[in-house]
Parts: sequence; structure tokens; C-alpha cells
Amino acid sequence: MKTAEDDLPSSIPQHVAIIMDGNRRWAKERHLPSGEGHRVGARVLREIVEAAGDLGIKIVTAYAFSKENWKRSQDEIKIILYLFDYYLKKERENLNNNGVRFQVIGRLDEMSPKLQKEFKKTEEFTRGNTRLLLNLAVNYGGRAEIVDAVKKIAEKVKENKIQPSEIDDKIISNHLYTAGLPDPDLLIRTSGELRISNFLLWQMAYTEFWFTPQYWPDFTKEDLRHAVLEYQGRSRRLGGS
Ligand code: FPP
Repeated sequence: MKTAEDDLPSSIPQHVAIIMDGNRRWAKERHLPSGEGHRVGARVLREIVEAAGDLGIKIVTAYAFSKENWKRSQDEIKIILYLFDYYLKKERENLNNNGVRFQVIGRLDEMSPKLQKEFKKTEEFTRGNTRLLLNLAVNYGGRAEIVDAVKKIAEKVKENKIQPSEIDDKIISNHLYTAGLPDPDLLIRTSGELRISNFLLWQMAYTEFWFTPQYWPDFTKEDLRHAVLEYQGRSRRLGGS
């Protein structure tokens, strides 16, 4: 028989999704250029990935650049793209030494060939690691991901590899960028915004949401622990009774 305790996720969330929001406001409040917020934000992500590994979290999916972010100023875009390049080169060895597997999710083919090469190199270099998977969402949009999955499935239907009647949740999940991964247990969003902003739309059907007013550059390991503790106190019925 099921007891109340069965509903409590006493365990650590396996998969944590993060919307790292508030970098520009953080910078603005300090009269700094927005790029400074992103620079500190990238450093914080590095710390949080390390802390997540220590807590026993197995997957972190972080929203680093959305499809909508191309609307920002050329200068700001340039800084974010520069940070990707800088951190990929700087952290590749370190990720590997810490047992982190790195993976990009998003429309990578629309990024510069140079950056694509750095992303692929890091993915290949860290492929064998199992301690923690870092999924970096880059040029990512949740609807675009679903569109891409539908196209892949439609191709297979056309080639007679899938029958339309066979299409179910599992087949759709298996054609997303996150194919093979469990859905996020917990979503953390900083900066006080209460939206999911086109992030992991399909995957977050039953995810627990945790919001904080802090800006991402101020987010600490202790805040991560706090979010996890609160998650552990929630009752997850996953649609059941
Ligand atoms: C949201 O804050 C943040 C972003 C759009 C960019 C996030 C990028 C990083 C943290 C750098 C990532 C770099 C690496 C190497 C992973 P915002 O700019 O929307 O801030 P606002 O809400 O105050 O305007």
C-alpha cells in the first residue's frame, strides 16, 4: 500500500533545469556593462555545476542562449558568444577531470562553424564521463525542439519506419534533443520572473518549479541546496492520487 512517505522525493533530484536570468539587471544595478553580468554568470554556472555534482545531481540543463536572444544588441551577442568560446577552451580539461560529460542542446547548425567545432570538441572529449551531464541549451527554443522532433518523425513515417498509429509520448521524447534522458525533476529560475520562457516545454510536464528573486550572478551553492531541500519537501504525485 502506498503511504504519504512514498510521495516525498527524499532523494536528490536526478535532473535539474536552470534558467539563469537577471545577468543584465545585476550589471545595471552596479553601473556595469551587461557583458559583465554574463561574465560573472558564466563563472557562477561553473560553480553550480561543481556543487550539483557534489550533491549527487546527475544532470544539469542550463539555458545559456535562447533563439530569441538573437534580438539583443550585436555587442551583447558578441560577448555571450565569446564567453562560450573562452569557457569551452578553458574548462574542457577541468570538466573532464571532474567526470562531467558536456552536451549542447539547440540548433547548433545555426551557430558559427568555429563555435560548432569547439562545442563538438568538448562533447567528444568528455563523452566517456558519467558523474554528471551538463546540457547547455544554446540557440535553444522549446517549440523549435518540438518542430524538429515532428520533422524527424514525419521523415520516418514517410520512409515507413514508423506507423502513424505507433506515435506516442515515448516516440516524441526519443526525438527531442534530450532523447534518452529523464525529464527534469526540478526547474530553478532566478531573477523573480515566473515563466518558463520556451524552455523544455515537453519535458517539464511534471517538473517542480522553484523561483527566486535573486539575480543569477548572485546565485550560490547554498541557494542550490536550499532549492533541493524545498524540492525534497514537496509531494510529487505525477498526476496520480
Ligand atoms: C539571462 O539574463 C541570461 C542570458 C540570456 C545569458 C546567459 C549566459 C550566461 C550565464 C553565460 C553563459 C556562458 C557560458 C560559458 C555557459 P538576462 O541577460 O536576460 O538578464 P535580464 O533578465 O536582467 O535582462
